[in-house]
Amino acid sequence: MALHVVRHPLVEDALAALRDRRTASEEFRRLAHRLSLLVVAEATRDLPTVEEEVETPLEVTKVRRLGRRVVAVPVLRAGLGMLDAFLEIVPSAQVGHYGLERDERTAVARRYYEKVPADLGDAVVYLLDPMLATGGSAAHAMEGLNGVGGRTVRLLSIVAAPEGVAYLERTIPDAEVYTAALDRALNDRKFILPGLGDFGDRLFGT
Ligand code: PRP
Ligand code: URA
Repeated sequence: MALHVVRHPLVEDALAALRDRRTASEEFRRLAHRLSLLVVAEATRDLPTVEEEVETPLEVTKVRRLGRRVVAVPVLRAGLGMLDAFLEIVPSAQVGHYGLERDERTAVARRYYEKVPADLGDAVVYLLDPMLATGGSAAHAMEGLNGVGGRTVRLLSIVAAPEGVAYLERTIPDAEVYTAALDRALNDRKFILPGLGDFGDRLFGT
């Protein structure tokens, strides 16, 4: 499995404030957006381009345009905090939605919604889910996307736990994961340590 931890001083700076328990929703949303821009930029750097010609005000020149179909699939709810940043960087992306909720007692994810574009086979699919904890949600969504034809599926996260990375390695060996931070461990309630708490609750103020 390919794990990319995005190293950048601006990632560190935004993460510092995102982790801070005193950061309220309004600021949390802005920080999540800023961090997501940096993660998305890294995770799209190898997308193929095709050559075209355009006429500048002075002459005709060769240019390169994005040469691959891109689909973003935020995992509801928390993944919505990464979607605007994704679309800012890849405005032509199609968008699917995947609704998953962890049981508060068992931490096992249950799917409650799925709507994704058809014929995913030729697309690079970016699954947006800021927290990779046990890995159950990500594996569920990646398997689901593979099941409807997704061949290249990349997970974009903000904080990952070693347990979740190990779980994905076992269940989806060809998974590609981009994250802003690889944290220490999970606690007994399957929350990431040091982490940043419940991302969805902090994003939406619930
Ligand atoms: C959170 C988070 C991930 C999941 C990660 O969602 O956004 O989807 O937990 O945990 P896992 O790796 O152990 O599966 P949650 O189920 O709390 O739903 P929410 O986004 O609606 O808050
Ligand atoms: N989901 C979250 O939002 N935070 C965690 O620490 C684990 C799962």
